[in-house]
Amino acid sequence: MNELISYTKDGELGIITVNNPPVNALSPGVPEGIGLALEEITKDDEVKAGILIGGGRTFIAGADIKEFGKVTSGQKRDGINFLDLLVAIEDCPKPMIAAIHGTAFGGGLEVAMAFHYRVAVASAQVGQPECKLGIIPGAAGTQRLPRLAGVALATQMCADGNPINAKAALEAGIVDQIVEGDLLEGAKAFARSMIDNPIVKTRDKNDKLGDEATNAPIFAAARAAAKKAARGMMAPQAAIDAVEAATKLEFFAGCARERELFQECLFSDQSKAMIHAFFGEREVAKIPDIPKDTPLIPIAKAAVIGAGTMGGGITMNFVNVGIPVLLKETTQEALDRGLATIAKNYSNSVKKGRFSQEVMDKRMALITPTLGYDGFEEADIVVEAVFENMALKKETFAALDQICKPGAILASNTSTLDIDEIASATSRPESVVGTHFFSPANVMRLLEIVRGQATSKSVLATAMDLAKKIKKVGVLVGNCYGFVGNRMIHQYGREAQFLVEEGAQPQDVDGALYEFGLAMGPLAMGDLAGLDVGWRIRKEHAHLEKPGVRKALIADELAERGRYGQKTGKGWYIYDENRKPSPDPEVTALIEELTANAGIQRREISKEEIIERTIYALVNEGAKILEEGIALRAVDIDIIYLMGYGFPAWRGGPMWYASTVGLQKVYDRVCEFHAQHGELWTPAPLLKRLAEEGKTFEDFDKEKVKAARG
Ligand code: 3HC
Ligand code: NAI
Repeated sequence: MNELISYTKDGELGIITVNNPPVNALSPGVPEGIGLALEEITKDDEVKAGILIGGGRTFIAGADIKEFGKVTSGQKRDGINFLDLLVAIEDCPKPMIAAIHGTAFGGGLEVAMAFHYRVAVASAQVGQPECKLGIIPGAAGTQRLPRLAGVALATQMCADGNPINAKAALEAGIVDQIVEGDLLEGAKAFARSMIDNPIVKTRDKNDKLGDEATNAPIFAAARAAAKKAARGMMAPQAAIDAVEAATKLEFFAGCARERELFQECLFSDQSKAMIHAFFGEREVAKIPDIPKDTPLIPIAKAAVIGAGTMGGGITMNFVNVGIPVLLKETTQEALDRGLATIAKNYSNSVKKGRFSQEVMDKRMALITPTLGYDGFEEADIVVEAVFENMALKKETFAALDQICKPGAILASNTSTLDIDEIASATSRPESVVGTHFFSPANVMRLLEIVRGQATSKSVLATAMDLAKKIKKVGVLVGNCYGFVGNRMIHQYGREAQFLVEEGAQPQDVDGALYEFGLAMGPLAMGDLAGLDVGWRIRKEHAHLEKPGVRKALIADELAERGRYGQKTGKGWYIYDENRKPSPDPEVTALIEELTANAGIQRREISKEEIIERTIYALVNEGAKILEEGIALRAVDIDIIYLMGYGFPAWRGGPMWYASTVGLQKVYDRVCEFHAQHGELWTPAPLLKRLAEEGKTFEDFDKEKVKAARG
């Protein structure tokens, strides 16, 4: 038909194969090719039934997401004819069968649902993940899915975007048969058995559409759930509206309503931000000087040192994917405590039905607790997660250097310390790397991989690959205090405190940022992480403070008074037995006392100022980090903030957000803050340059990619 679609015949069957690797997206040419093959099937009297199958690793995984940017920027008209193609498939007088393996996602599932029947291998998944891109199904997915699966499941699938497996799809009526063995052969047998059957179009199946009385509570519950789970996001609500339209309007009117909602979402800033995040998550895996064919170090056995907050979570990541771990502590008591925490985490998951007791037992059995270094000589990777103390880290790495086999990866989970100094304690700095997990390490998807001066390419490539294996997103960062994420958060947290000193209450600052979309405000986050942590770090680094530079007054005083946050029941807030925070008059009094002593005139502070002071502090530092090459691209910073710091996906990350505000506007405000607050707000030269050139951080990334390609 064309280079993306092939058409073959097998007796009375016409077989359409999509060949658009890697995921058979509906790129230009794919719908056209399917249309041509459909004509062939329709007009060829010898052909009695048609099959559509994906070549390679998957069925169609959806629309080509790259095309959306062309539509919204006006470079391309939206291919509305796609809806007509699906209707034409449905109108074909011969049975049409979609044969599914891999993922039938988005437009892929929409295509499959226009077919008269769907068969799938057991490992296949189907889903409408559009809302994860800030859009909704745009090719009648919200209209056909409830007709096959019923209103409740269709609403859920379109609103949360999560896929279901073939077995669940079979039970729901989305799939008609599960094929054991070869998919094409199974699909052929199925097609032959359907040749004489009457054809039923999905769009005519109205019996699962329910009525007002049964549907209203389903939609109300879905709207409430989406409001909570996808706070601030318009797409899930729009998807629910579109499914509701399927229950109230006839099919084509429902499609028209879906179309309107789809367009609203597609042209929103939210979808642009989320599409940026989708590609960003994949872009961060590409490191210009580390080619794809860099040899990887096989990782069959791991060791973790320290079974505290982080070591326990890191251990879980390994055993979850079947990698055995030697877990070392200094005392039996600490070891027992660490293991008990891991076991408690797993049994919570078993209780919630996430996996069986048997799975938990297998995972626990992969952990070998130890108080010594026996067995470390077999480890392919060791992750150190002892206290944040340079002398201890160096002592630990010197010991590892003596014991570990040549080529083993020696990784540190340090959150701030110099990887090169740690590596200097070994005779093999090329094997030393930072693997900075985020707390809770078994949950958070971010992994900052810190490149030391001597870290070898194989070690880095293996760390990136391992991140993917343990279901994390690895982002390569350079070696500096706090690396990318924590170096930036430091500026943000500082401004949050200054705002409190200047007149805002803690709940004003946290409230404004929560409303902005962050999972949690910075002061509440401090209480969660423990105010003692930053306090200790600041004490350790007190000698580096510059005289005359403004210092935050309150957090250290809270820590001095034993107000460490949630763990002591008091911090910026006071907590009840359910950890619910309330403003504490003692804190209000303390703020007033300390600021009066420091001669700070308290004033009214607007929500707008709270957002600008905190978020632009992130952006200005991010721009410095980019210039120094600590982050490879602006999108890397965005992914770090989306995956590790609860930044709202629909804002695309701090750097993307700044570009949507306009870098000139951001730069102007940074200059004003510089004039008002001094040195800490020195504008990043890169921010200045991009603002003056009328560019965005995306333009900067493109320049970098171009330069890397030479
Ligand atoms: N469009 C364009 N490119 C896509 C794509 C898509 N729909 N899906 C994946 N890709 C690209 C990725 O960017 C990546 O490119 P790269 O190698 O250059 O970085 C490559 O394909 C491989 O992707 P992954 O690394 O993600 O491969 P995995 O095997 O890990 O995952 C997948 C495969 C589960 C299909 C995953 O890629 C995915 O979830 N893709 C998005 C699916 C989706 O959202 N579909 C709906 C699209 S919107 C739509 O259909 C609208 C419709 O209603 C009109
Ligand atoms: P923690 O205090 O909870 O655990 C540290 C553990 O290391 C303790 O159980 C201690 O007994 C053990 N330990 C100390 N010396 C040891 C040795 N020589 N051999 C074996 N075990 C030893 O500390 P946490 O929070 O887990 O931090 C560990 C590292 O992770 C630090 O470098 C920290 O900066 C970093 N980190 C912490 C994060 C957090 O949110 N807690 C986030 C990211 C990184």
